[in-house]
Amino acid sequence: MVAGGISAPSGGGGKEFEAKVTPIVVISCLMAAVGGLMFGYDIGISGGVTSMGPFLKKFFPKVYKRTQNPGENSNYCKYDNQGLQLFTSSLYLAGLTATFLASYTTRKFGRKITMLTAGFFFIAGVVLNAAAQNLGMLIAGRILLGCGVGFANQAVPLFLSEIAPTRIRGALNISFQLMVTIGILVANLVNYGTNKMKGENGWRVSLGLAGFPALLLTVGALFVTDTPNSLIERGQLDEGKTVLKKIRGTDNIEPEFEQLVEASRKAKQIEHPFKNLLMRRNRPQLVISIALQIFQQFTGINAIMFYAPVLFDTLGFGANASLYSAIITGAVNVLSTLVSMYFVDKLGRRFLLLQAGVQMFLSQLVIAIILGLKVTDHSENLGHGWAIFVVILVCTFVSSFAWSWGPLGWLIPSETFPLETRSAGQSVTVCVNLLFTFVIAQAFLSMLCHFKFGIFLFFSAWVLIMSFFVLFLLPETKNVPIEEMTERVWKQHQLWKRFMDDDHVLDDKKYSQLEEGIYKNNENGQSSV
Ligand code: BGC
Repeated sequence: MVAGGISAPSGGGGKEFEAKVTPIVVISCLMAAVGGLMFGYDIGISGGVTSMGPFLKKFFPKVYKRTQNPGENSNYCKYDNQGLQLFTSSLYLAGLTATFLASYTTRKFGRKITMLTAGFFFIAGVVLNAAAQNLGMLIAGRILLGCGVGFANQAVPLFLSEIAPTRIRGALNISFQLMVTIGILVANLVNYGTNKMKGENGWRVSLGLAGFPALLLTVGALFVTDTPNSLIERGQLDEGKTVLKKIRGTDNIEPEFEQLVEASRKAKQIEHPFKNLLMRRNRPQLVISIALQIFQQFTGINAIMFYAPVLFDTLGFGANASLYSAIITGAVNVLSTLVSMYFVDKLGRRFLLLQAGVQMFLSQLVIAIILGLKVTDHSENLGHGWAIFVVILVCTFVSSFAWSWGPLGWLIPSETFPLETRSAGQSVTVCVNLLFTFVIAQAFLSMLCHFKFGIFLFFSAWVLIMSFFVLFLLPETKNVPIEEMTERVWKQHQLWKRFMDDDHVLDDKKYSQLEEGIYKNNENGQSSV
């Protein structure tokens, strides 16, 4: 899942208990959908809004002037403005900070309160944004939305993986990512519509419509119950039991209840999950998870997701065509995520990542060559045929990202960390991701101005590096149960086996025992994301 992902146990000792798909499970899935949509909408909405004339005129008059006098300034630098980039990036910085706090509130006060808090942050952020009179209000609104993202992305996936029966958890993992991509697409469609509105306030409608999912999330959080795991963790055993019966739709919950209580007890024994993470034997997973997050962002995907309309406008597309092209890339993103859901357990993670590496590299290389040859600093536009070709190349780039680094950047960390460090590992994963998302959001338009078409060479070089990383350093984890990871994955790997010094490794038997009792809580309940 994006920023958080649902840590699904990917096999092994996770027992299957009696569980029906009760109304509350359905409502939980809807909540996840809304949480994902909300995040995606926030990702997708800023690009279109920042390319709208009335918005620029009001908040960034200098940028507006530049867009009105194309011949005067370098095309590539039209949108280079730190404030404009801050409008997009501030959300991720706030999200990053809020994640730490949310990790605490989810544990201390429960998932429900944390989701409710997220809802209030979202509503406050939307109101400030839609009513913004100056840059301060605009940025404050984005910061509040970012806090909402931090809280929601912490609590919603956790809530889901605790409420949903085990058998549908894996599917939920990628469906959260799917909802994010749908949110991005909806935002692109809304921007296309509001740009055509008469008057100066289309951007207000774009930003204000985020209020709809925000309200749904808040009202939903009011009505759902907290999870049994969270109630037990906070010592409310009787209530935990009652809730478990209600959500599973059966009175036969004793075995699962006992496991939850035991898991909660054991999880409390792991005193320093973050210290654990730094131990030598956890190095491979830690290095891989951090690298995957940095690489995911350095594919350059968010240059497209955040700034596609601006980028297309830079290439001389005109406002409407720019927003229209962003819809096309948004739709490709959604469809290709579906492709990933279908193939991920069939073809494996490595195949998808390597195939996508080739496709992303070539797409970016060709885009760079075309722009290098066709877009000069002061040329008016790219020409119709070339413009269509560039959009097609952006689509081949986005599609390969969406069936590889998009969902797998989240899935792989959630399935490689052993039980004792999964929650802490997941928190680190999310934070590193948001940090580098922030970096790209804050730097892209300036980089475009300085590197010009070379920005695509820059990203393609990164794609080359990350593909070599996958080739040599990322082992295949498809269909490997968690308790067999050490033997079947790490100990077989040329480099990583050096970290699997037997004296220091919990043996697989111990893992299996831990898996029995601990995975739920360790994975979901303790400072996890
Ligand atoms: C990434 C986001 C990105 C999205 C695009 C996610 O996996 O983490 O940064 O915007 O994919 O679909």
